Amino acid sequence: MALIVIGMIPAGFVMIQEGLPRAVQNSMFITHKNLGTLMLLLIIVRLLYRWRNPPPPEPEHLPHWQQKVAGLTHWALYALLVVMPVSGYVRVRAGGFPIEVLDAMGVPALVPRSDALAEVAKSVHFYAGWAIAALVAMHIGAALYHGVIKRDGVLERMLPRKAR
Ligand code: HEM
Repeated sequence: MALIVIGMIPAGFVMIQEGLPRAVQNSMFITHKNLGTLMLLLIIVRLLYRWRNPPPPEPEHLPHWQQKVAGLTHWALYALLVVMPVSGYVRVRAGGFPIEVLDAMGVPALVPRSDALAEVAKSVHFYAGWAIAALVAMHIGAALYHGVIKRDGVLERMLPRKAR
């Protein structure tokens, strides 16, 4: 999920630039919409997993303010991982556009066709896009700070078991 999100954010900003060759822009939009829809399913699975398997408490040697900021960042990241695909979905469906994978499976649009709704969802997607970009940068910065400078075991907690 991390790799997909880290790819989706710059791709999202690049694909809306004017002057891109039409074919490149089209394939970027198609990839973005369909991978983004997959993200919506993955975040639901992830939230269910987190609910059944809560993470260990923040390491005790961390100053209290760092524990608080880390907790808030994690909650905000989860919230934005829901807001981004939902707002993208609503923007596209309310705008009357296709989501190729869902269309091929015959899944109907779950929101009505409405330009006003599409515009609201577009703004939400745009501002939430900047917010998630900032939080991902903070999250990576903090992980590197702990892993490379402090070397206090916080980065290791984040890595898959094999990589530890
Ligand atoms: C984790 C999931 C997603 C991330 C991180 C993400 C990220 C972004 C970012 C950073 C942008 C550029 C800022 C903007 O103009 O809004 C963007 C644009 C866009 N995204 Fe997403 N997106 C996600 C999911 C989706 C989904 C599920 C759809 C549709 C099914 C979608 C459709 C679009 C569209 C159509 C644009 C162009 C904005 C416009 O002009 O309407 N995105 N996305």
